Amino acid sequence: MRILSGIQPSGALHLGNYFGMMRPSIELQNQGDAFYFIADYHSMTSLFDAEERRRNTRDVALDFLACGLDPRRAVFFRQSDVPEVCELTWILGTLTPMGLLERCHSFKDKSAKGIPVNSGLFTYPVLMASDILIYDSNVVPVGQDQKQHVEVTRDIAIKFNEAYGQTFVVPEPRIRGEVAKVPGVDGEKMSKSYGNTIEIFGPEKALRKKIMGIKMDSRAPGDPKPDADQNLAIQLLTVVDGSIGKDYEEKLRAGGLGYGDLKKKLFEVYWDHFAAARDRRAELENNLDYVHQVLSEGAAKARAKAQEVLHRARKACGLE
Ligand code: ADP
Ligand code: TRP
Repeated sequence: MRILSGIQPSGALHLGNYFGMMRPSIELQNQGDAFYFIADYHSMTSLFDAEERRRNTRDVALDFLACGLDPRRAVFFRQSDVPEVCELTWILGTLTPMGLLERCHSFKDKSAKGIPVNSGLFTYPVLMASDILIYDSNVVPVGQDQKQHVEVTRDIAIKFNEAYGQTFVVPEPRIRGEVAKVPGVDGEKMSKSYGNTIEIFGPEKALRKKIMGIKMDSRAPGDPKPDADQNLAIQLLTVVDGSIGKDYEEKLRAGGLGYGDLKKKLFEVYWDHFAAARDRRAELENNLDYVHQVLSEGAAKARAKAQEVLHRARKACGLE
């Protein structure tokens, strides 16, 4: 079984990325043949600063390795180290109906907000389909917001197979219900583009301030709170540690737990959860040669597979 996922180097990674995509991917690395990559081509649709892209790419590599991606088990690489994916994007685009892309949230949401949309952003799901199909992927672990893109990928694969004969594996998304949509500090979906994130790694003081700044209602600590499960700090605590989350939910429901103490607990549990990863990240930062070596070995393995599948597709559609 091939497991594949990607993440864009478009800003500091956060708890939504970690619980929605990174942790499930890291757990799956022991259950099949895993390919994980840094989607730097995709980041070009919204980030226009070369130095920032370089820095973010390095940071995603450090973050993912620190969090437990094991390069002896998973192939870890940079998307643009496999340029074959661009050729396949062209081929797949010729079978992709405009209407399919017009319905994609990634494009619709940005254009509705009045953000100028480039054609790369419009065809973004075709590049993502190419990422998935070029490695014969079976399973794609992602958060809820990427489900539609995996469905588009399935449609494109089926269309190609019908037009030119059985060529591509039709993949499936793998979404963890309980962490499909981790909320941000404002209660909306946590996202780099909404400025509401709690980063996985970052300075202690700033992160403590962010968590202590989460807005609560004005009820007194002694009041019982029958809606404790709706409390944002409880929801985040439950994402980080289910059993402590349930315990504090009961405490809040019963009355007697102040919001300040609840947020302090959330900060502590979160900070402790990433303590070992933080140490590993500091070590990796002093060993960037190792990180580069991991990515270049990963690229060689990924590229060999991509060339094989691209060749199969080119033959099927009459380019060879
Ligand atoms: P962002 O919205 O912050 O830009 P990305 O689009 O780069 O995040 O997402 C990378 C991966 O993390 C995807 O698989 C996505 O589904 C997952 N993800 C992002 N935000 C969340 C969230 N709040 N909850 C669950 N998963 C998330
Ligand atoms: N679009 C994904 C995101 O923003 C990143 C991505 C690119 C991806 N190619 C992929 C995820 C292939 C899974 C499979 O999160």
